[in-house]
Amino acid sequence: ETSAEQRRFDEIIAADSRIEPRDWMPDAYRKTLIRQISQHAHSEIIGMQPEGNWITRAPSLKRKAILMAKVQDEAGHGLYLYSAAQTLGITRDEMTDQLITGRARYSSIFNYPTPTWADMGAIGWLVDGAAICNQVPLCRASYGPYGRAMVRVCKEESFHQRQGFEILLTLMQGTDAQRRMAQDAVNRWYWPSLMMFGPPDGDSPNSAQSMVWNIKRFSNDELRQRFIGMLVPQAEVLGVTLPDPELRFDEEAQQYVGGEIDWTEFFEVLAGRGPMNAERVRARREAHEDGAWVREAAAEYARKTTLRQAQ
Ligand code: 3HC
Repeated sequence: ETSAEQRRFDEIIAADSRIEPRDWMPDAYRKTLIRQISQHAHSEIIGMQPEGNWITRAPSLKRKAILMAKVQDEAGHGLYLYSAAQTLGITRDEMTDQLITGRARYSSIFNYPTPTWADMGAIGWLVDGAAICNQVPLCRASYGPYGRAMVRVCKEESFHQRQGFEILLTLMQGTDAQRRMAQDAVNRWYWPSLMMFGPPDGDSPNSAQSMVWNIKRFSNDELRQRFIGMLVPQAEVLGVTLPDPELRFDEEAQQYVGGEIDWTEFFEVLAGRGPMNAERVRARREAHEDGAWVREAAAEYARKTTLRQAQ
């Protein structure tokens, strides 16, 4: 016997409408949204570190200003997403604590190092490019605050992707050393960017339910395919080679088919054993501890202001 609330919820989902914070929702719907939105927010915040590493070493003032703007955007994306997650009942402190104690997931992609400037191009072109493929459908997620946060995020991601492409194009039109640096970065970021879309559909425990609830609109493999289809012509314009010798267009399936992704690497990174996992969590914990005095001062100031207003 389904309750009136469950029937109401089912009607809203069936009509492809929005669930809002005050609406009744099944606990499992709330739980999977807190899971996905908090992890998405953590990804944005941790994602500031690989690029932040090059703000003081950008090759020109223009590149420095663009990179700073991009990293600041990521912080803003994290803020929207933490706020969206808070509408579901989890607090900012709980989410931050989960992240700095190493208990929270965030996107595997940010656990790789950024040894050269060309990484800034590869991250913009590949990582933000993948993020766009993944985030555009999320603008239509059934949970209102999440879908609406994505609209603003996607607009800014497009700038992130274009500036990355432009960095690589500039390098590819430069000296042989610059061309080698760009190709090396593409070689290191290509496969991990495909892993951003999640495990193969057959190994994706959350997909089926997320698709029933109109949270996930396309499967992990479908979006991964779409991303590769987007990359091939752009790689040709750049003059870089995608590091998959088996990549070819399957006329029958009318899509690109490539070599096997190394899922062992994926699950190793998810288990915390990627090249930079410990460093990323340590840096985030340190930033949180270093910022404690600011939070205390702001709280004390707010307390005194309230006291004064009450007198
Ligand atoms: N990194 C880390 N964990 C991952 C992952 C990845 N690349 N891909 C999947 N996982 C985790 C899932 O979280 C899940 O674990 P959990 O149940 O403990 O949360 C498990 O692996 C199985 O994966 P599923 O496919 O079953 O999980 P989902 O249905 O949640 O799909 C997802 C995974 C496609 C990443 C989905 O969660 C999603 O769309 N998330 C929102 C988008 C997002 O987080 N993107 C990260 C990119 S970072 C970014 O966009 C910043 C930009 O500015 C560059």
